[in-house]
Order: sequence, then structure tokens, then C-alpha cells
Amino acid sequence: MPAYAVIGGQWGDEGKGKVIDYLAGNVDSVVRYAGGNNAGHTVVNEKGTFQLHLVPSGICWPDVYGIIGNGVVVDPDVLVNELAEIGARGIDTSKLVISERAHVIMPYHVVLDALEEEARGDAAIGTTGRGIGPAYMDKTGRMGIRIGDLLDWEALVPMVTQVLEHKNALITKVYGGKALALDDVLAKCRIWADHMAPYAMATEQLVQDLLSQNKRVLLEGAQGTLLDIDHGSYPYVTSSSPSIGGACTGLGLNPQAIKGVLGVFKAYSTRVGSGPMPSEITDDEAEEIREKAQEFGVTTGRARRIGWFDGVAAKYSQLINGFTGIVLTRLDILDEFDSVKVCVGYEVSGERLDRFPANTGLLARCKPVFEEMPGWDKPTASATELSQLPENALAYVHKIEELVGCRAQIISTGPSRAETIQVEPVFT
Ligand code: IMO
Ligand code: MG
Repeated sequence: MPAYAVIGGQWGDEGKGKVIDYLAGNVDSVVRYAGGNNAGHTVVNEKGTFQLHLVPSGICWPDVYGIIGNGVVVDPDVLVNELAEIGARGIDTSKLVISERAHVIMPYHVVLDALEEEARGDAAIGTTGRGIGPAYMDKTGRMGIRIGDLLDWEALVPMVTQVLEHKNALITKVYGGKALALDDVLAKCRIWADHMAPYAMATEQLVQDLLSQNKRVLLEGAQGTLLDIDHGSYPYVTSSSPSIGGACTGLGLNPQAIKGVLGVFKAYSTRVGSGPMPSEITDDEAEEIREKAQEFGVTTGRARRIGWFDGVAAKYSQLINGFTGIVLTRLDILDEFDSVKVCVGYEVSGERLDRFPANTGLLARCKPVFEEMPGWDKPTASATELSQLPENALAYVHKIEELVGCRAQIISTGPSRAETIQVEPVFT
């Protein structure tokens, strides 16, 4: 059976965790392929509410493998705590595995994330502070420590000794920070080796074996396309590839294995951290959406910036990922509005722009061209059938389909697994 991907179509926080939990009942494995514990995926089902950062969001289904692929960066402390927390709530975590090729977020990565942000001053990215960027920098800089390295003590000690020397020079001489003690870092690694050993394996082989045994594999995106290191609003991006290309490199999966690519879009826009967001609003309506939807980060608690649905950005996201279907989430949040807006184009110095620009300075100058649509008189919250949606809400869904250029296969009408409209089958 093929693989299917679930990818953030916007700036992250689109509700991917809910979508994965909903779909995972019909798959054999859920696989994270990029990012790390900068992600915050919320899952609400009959077992409770779970806020996951590293553990794949299919974990509540006992027979489903949870796979952390090579493209993910892993903070072992975070993973161990997360597993203990969900395990204590009666969730079986025995089917979790981690790629031995996944890179480790080392203690100095977290220190450097904070120091680099501080040094950026007004140009700070607003990272999650979890060491993500520095860990990916070391990966591409060929000085990363991988999960497999933790398990080879003889080789690990000289590696960590050499890298730490370099990192301490950076921390103390460039940023004026405090050096980390080699003994402390190695002691951490010893503990992590014991904790990670039972989970480490060649996940690319496992994924391939599952596919050839006719099992279904669900790829769980983290972050969103507009935060992609290549395709996002650089430099205000994360340091990995959340879009579809990242799913291939982040797992060692060939592209022919992927049959469906679901783009998850919120019915409006949010963004955490800095960087341009053309359809952003800061008026009472923004406040209303933020409060009603509780748009505060799962990972950092920061208030999310709010905007109307950005059709230009969404179309660009479709171009990058080739979505075969849309999952539209949080439609219910717009329930009580007299009217809603969608951004159908940008304007720069009086000129119309219908394309998401590569130049971040230009993107920052883009003013939104909004189209106003009437609100709906009946709530969509908790609807489970398309026929329960009021006419204007349906018109809004169709508008988004038209802007993205792709059909809505699933509409989410609330946070829990049950509050879902399955418009058409995803797995074909
Ligand atoms: P999920 O998976 C929303 C943002 C950060 C920051 C930028 C870089 O929950 O959708 P980083 O720590 O990755 O170096 O920060 O990326 N960011 C996210 N925003 N949702 C996420 O994940 C995010 N992960 C990172 O706020 O602007
Ligand atoms: Mg999140």
C-alpha cells in the first residue's frame, strides 16, 4: 500500500495533530519526517487531550507504529518525558521507533539558539528556543551527533570532545556566554544512550518493509510550507523542510511511494514569531479569533498573530506540494462573524501581485486585497455531515477550494476526533 502525507499548508499550527489522530485509525504507521520539538500537535479523543512535540500523533491507536525518521532532530530528554507522560495516562508507547540517523539536539544547541536570537536583536526570528536551528546547522555542517552515535561510546567521546571545543569557542568568544563542561555533556550522552537504545533502528528499512507488506504509512508533517527553509519566507523560517520534498529525504522514501498529499489549512491564518504575513489583522476581529480559538502556542505559549485566509500563499503552497486534497480546519471559529474575508491578491505600490514573492522585503511590502463574504447564521461547530453546513459556510469552503485549486476532502469542525466531516475518501 502507498504512503500518504499530511502537510501544513500555512505557517504551522494548522491542526495537523487532530487530522493525523483522525486518519491514524486506518493506517499502520505514523511517521514524523522533519522538525523536532518545535512542533506542538494537539490530539483530542476519548482518551483525553494530548499535546505532543516529538511523539507521532497516531500514538493513541495501539496497533500503529510511531516512527521518528532521520529528518527529525531529537532532544532525548523531551522524548523521554513525553513518553513517560503519555505512558502514565495509559497509552501504549511500545510501537515507537527512532531512526539511528536522526540528529540529536545537544545541550549546546539549546544554548546557542538563545544566544543567536539575542544577537539578532530587532531581526530576531522568534524561534521556539528548542535548539532546532543550531542542530540542523551542525547536520549540514557535518558536525552533528546522531542517535546511532550515542550508541557507540568509543567513537562518541572524541566526536563530542572535538565539537564541544568548537561550540565553547563560539559560545564564549563570539557571544560572551558560559562554556559547557565536557563531563556534563558526556554524562548526558551516557544517560541518553541508555534511553534511546531500545528505540533506535533503521527506520528507512522498516518503512519500506511496511509498504511492501501492503501496510499504509501516514507521513506527519510538522511546521508548515511557509516556514520551509527553501520555500518559506526566508530567513523567517524554521531550519528543516516541512513540505513534501522533506518527506522523501526525511525518511529515505522514494517519491513514487507517496500516493496522496493532504494540505492542512486553517480557515484563517496564524503565524508565531517574526516575518511578513500579508493578510495579518490586528483589529477587534483578530482578538476575537485569538480568544475564541485560543491561538496561543502549544510549545511556547506565545500569542499567535492572526490574519484572514491568504489565497496567494495557499496557492503557492499547492504549487510546492502538489496537494491531492485539502483538510480545512477550525471552520467553526468563524461561526459568529457577520462577514468573513479572504485575501485574493497582493498589492505593492499600487501594482497587483498574484504570486507569493521570493523576496522577503517585497513580501513585507505586500498589502492584502481582501474579498468580503457573508457570514453564516447557523453554527458549523461539531458538524459531521456536509449537509449540516449552512449555505454561506459551504460557499466559503468552495472559495478556499477555488483559491488553492484543490478539493476539500476533510473539514474539521472542532478539536476532537469526532468533530469531523469526511467529504470524500482520502485513502483510495
Ligand atoms: P507545528 O508543527 C508554528 C516557527 C517559530 C519561528 C520559526 C523558527 O506545531 O505546526 P524554530 O524554533 O523552528 O527555529 O523557529 O518557526 N515554528 C512554528 N510555528 N508551528 C510550528 O510547528 C512551528 N515550529 C516552528 O515560531 O517563527
Ligand atoms: Mg503547533
